[in-house]
Amino acid sequence: MEAIQLQTTQWAGLHSRANFTLTQIDVDSRSMEEDVIAGLKTIPKTISPKYFYDEEGSRLFDQICELPEYYPTRTETSILERHAHAILDRLGRDLCVIELGAGACHKGRLLLETGKVSSFIPVDISTEYLRSQALRVARGFPDVSVHAVGMDFVVSLDSLESFLPEVGRRVIFYAGSSIGNFDPPDACRLLRQFHELLRKDDALLIGYDLKKDPNLLHQAYNDSEGVTAAFNLNLLARFNRELKADFDVKAFRHVARYDEARGRVEMHLESLSAQEVRIANERVRFDKFERTHTESSYKYSVDEFDGVAAGAGFDSVGVWTDPAAYFAVALYARREFRQ
Ligand code: AVI
Repeated sequence: MEAIQLQTTQWAGLHSRANFTLTQIDVDSRSMEEDVIAGLKTIPKTISPKYFYDEEGSRLFDQICELPEYYPTRTETSILERHAHAILDRLGRDLCVIELGAGACHKGRLLLETGKVSSFIPVDISTEYLRSQALRVARGFPDVSVHAVGMDFVVSLDSLESFLPEVGRRVIFYAGSSIGNFDPPDACRLLRQFHELLRKDDALLIGYDLKKDPNLLHQAYNDSEGVTAAFNLNLLARFNRELKADFDVKAFRHVARYDEARGRVEMHLESLSAQEVRIANERVRFDKFERTHTESSYKYSVDEFDGVAAGAGFDSVGVWTDPAAYFAVALYARREFRQ
């Protein structure tokens, strides 16, 4: 297990709001340069989807969420708008909601609007963005104590413990089908980390994408405006900007297809010619039509996802979907592991 170094910076006093604090926790993990070069030296080549989200990539992702073909964001929002009260009714009052990957906190707000949440802990890797968004939440909900935490929670969640209130039921909220970007064993490992942060009677609320007509999935990841293609290709432009790479972005194309057997949409970047690319001090060869895997987006049935959650120690409490059954928001109770 790699050593994890934490560096914590607190800005509690910098903001005029009594109900707002912000903490940044830096986790020392492998650098983007090492990670990208290692991934491009494996067969088949891979790049981690976590590198999509620089400023330009986050802007493109926000645009994806508004596309007519990309149904997950608006469908999940509609489920929460309709059912947030019923969902939180199962849990009582004075809840502590920990929203992982909170971004603009749009979905967390839908939970706060129920009036059942007394503390809100939005967590996101992008501290700057989180600061402005979480501060707006604190202004909008003066009775809720908001403690924003900038950290890569996928690397480690342990350090969050010290920011959580002693009293009140904890609810980890992981929206947007982000869990779908992990292979099922890794998804189960991440859910086990969630399990460790929770106590008896705490809960997990999670949004995941359901299996559906492959044509709809194809359209969602091959939109007519080419925004998803730009999002995928931005990886290479980012490496040119940040890693002194010399990718000719036009010499690659976006490929997304649904692999029905594996139940996942796969995104790739395909090299249009045989070419050699420099990244930092390394050279990487690409064959003509060679594909680099950049993302998997798993689609589940309710039973399949309940199985993943059960493996991590969670029992299903309820699941809410839209009328077309495109997306699911599921509530799980933390089960004690029996040794
Ligand atoms: C963030 N994640 C859930 C998105 C998804 O659908 O897998 C990322 C994305 N990739 C292409 N379009 C959207």
